[in-house]
Amino acid sequence: MDEPGRLFSSGTWAPNLFAGKVVFCTGGAGTICSAQVKALVILGANAAIIGRRSAIATAAAKEIQSLRPGSLVVGISGDVRSVDSMKVAVARTVKELGRIDFLICGAAGNFLSPFDNLSANAFKTVIDIDLLGSFNATKACADELKRSRGRIIYISATLHYAGAALQTHAVAAKAGVDALSSQMCIEYGPIGVTSNVIAPGGIARTEGLTRLNDKSTWTKSQKMIPLQRWGTVSEIADATIFLFSPAAKYISGAIVPVDGGAWHMQSVVTSGTEYPENVLGDGINRVEEAASKL
Ligand code: HXC
Repeated sequence: MDEPGRLFSSGTWAPNLFAGKVVFCTGGAGTICSAQVKALVILGANAAIIGRRSAIATAAAKEIQSLRPGSLVVGISGDVRSVDSMKVAVARTVKELGRIDFLICGAAGNFLSPFDNLSANAFKTVIDIDLLGSFNATKACADELKRSRGRIIYISATLHYAGAALQTHAVAAKAGVDALSSQMCIEYGPIGVTSNVIAPGGIARTEGLTRLNDKSTWTKSQKMIPLQRWGTVSEIADATIFLFSPAAKYISGAIVPVDGGAWHMQSVVTSGTEYPENVLGDGINRVEEAASKL
């Protein structure tokens, strides 16, 4: 396990690896994306952090900028659900930072809900943030990425490989994000742009995981992870550095789970160690009743 507070594996990456590069990151104020951007900025990049709430994006940018004096990090308010909003954010990034080399599509929304309680609007809300939002950010950055022969990383998940209880909306959205990355790999490969997915498993200390799981479930279910622990944001940062580094120049269309091997266990356990009560509900009685009539 890496040391708490460490931003990425020390001694592994060259200082100034990303000097002169600019990253545009949606969801950049969130725990995972801000760790990615911090690592890139420490290694020489400049960055634009895009978030729905201006004050939060600006505060995150200020914190990240302080990690490398002389770096340029701007916080820009923008809603990934609007392509026009993304175009405005791109224009400001280019005006202030000059170019875009790296796109990280990290904005996501989620909550736990049984299918029966999920309204069409609730489903659409998550699709709009995760999937349409990734499309909109890519669309808005497209010309800059073509110009720089840039790189894209989509932040997806592993929960859709086998499905996950209470996550119909996120499962559908993240499956779409993986497909979007494949399309960008195919269509932009000839231009020299790479497109890859990082699929985090459970990452300790993220706001999302904290909100979606109670502590006892965490402690129990990490025993189901082959590497026997939750991941850290610095391990997502390491994967990001690698995929944006020259060492990954022939990698495109890849899905890189950073999950301690957990997705291989999804046929055994999806969320938690027991079938969630709110999925069973009345359904189990209906199944038992139907089975008794066979
Ligand atoms: C059922 C819910 C709900 C819930 C919202 N809705 N929360 N339905 N259970 N817990 C429904 C609402 O009733 C409404 O439908 C619709 O969703 C839109 O809700 P709004 O609150 O109006 O939407 P909005 O303000 O845009 O909020 C978006 C949000 C919100 C996704 C619902 O939670 C959000 O922005 N969260 C912050 C970002 C976040 O969650 N980040 C963590 C990502 S972790 P009706 O029908 O009433 O109009 C992640 C990891 C994936 O993505 C993998 C994890 C395992």
